[in-house]
Amino acid sequence: MTAPTPSPLPSPLSAPAWEQRYQQGTPRWDLGQPAPAFQTLLTATDPPPPGPAIVLGAGRGHDALWFARHGFAVTAVDFAPSAIEALKEQAQGQNLPLRSLQRDMFDLLPEYAGQFAYAIEHTCFCAIDPDLRPAYVDLVADLLRPDGELLAVFFTHKRSGGPPFGTTAAEVRQRFKLRFDILTLEPVANSVAARQGEEHWGRLRRR
Ligand SMILES: C[S@@+](CC[C@H](N)C(=O)[O-])C[C@H]1O[C@@H](n2cnc3c(N)ncnc32)[C@H](O)[C@@H]1O
Repeated sequence: MTAPTPSPLPSPLSAPAWEQRYQQGTPRWDLGQPAPAFQTLLTATDPPPPGPAIVLGAGRGHDALWFARHGFAVTAVDFAPSAIEALKEQAQGQNLPLRSLQRDMFDLLPEYAGQFAYAIEHTCFCAIDPDLRPAYVDLVADLLRPDGELLAVFFTHKRSGGPPFGTTAAEVRQRFKLRFDILTLEPVANSVAARQGEEHWGRLRRR
């Protein structure tokens, strides 16, 4: 009798691989709270006015819910079913209106082209294959209305490999300047302890 062929491991950046990470337990990227940089942004004296916002690679939705709580009409996208389930549960529990999409974000166009005043990014750019970064810049720009803004927390760690694949402020500037005006790109001052000195806060306006 021949031994059964083991099922192949999912490619590490595929939806099944991300789903497996969620099913295996507490994902190490999940802060269990909104990113501190987003908390600072929306509790400032001059927060951006609420509008339609898309959260890319939203995970369990802590950032998405934070923006929804502050009046933004949030669409949260993630291709991992467990992440979307957790996000929906939290939204229902907190009685917050929020649209969730279990989709590959690279398949959102042309359906959602130009629909959003904001795109929200937190450890999503670092989660995709670095070869897809040019396509990601175009995706974000094309989801936004003209003058729409990307509100981003970039993971600028210096370790090799990934995910999370690190980036630098210089790379963010060089890639995004093709489609965006960079209004702010600066180190995050109040990161959680494990990410001190490894995050940049960016506010970028689509041209
Ligand atoms: C590092 S996690 C960050 C999740 C969330 N932003 C957070 O900070 O907790 C990256 C997320 O992006 C999702 N993701 C990666 N590639 C994606 C794609 N092409 N389309 C949709 N979601 C994707 C993964 O399922 C995962 O939930």
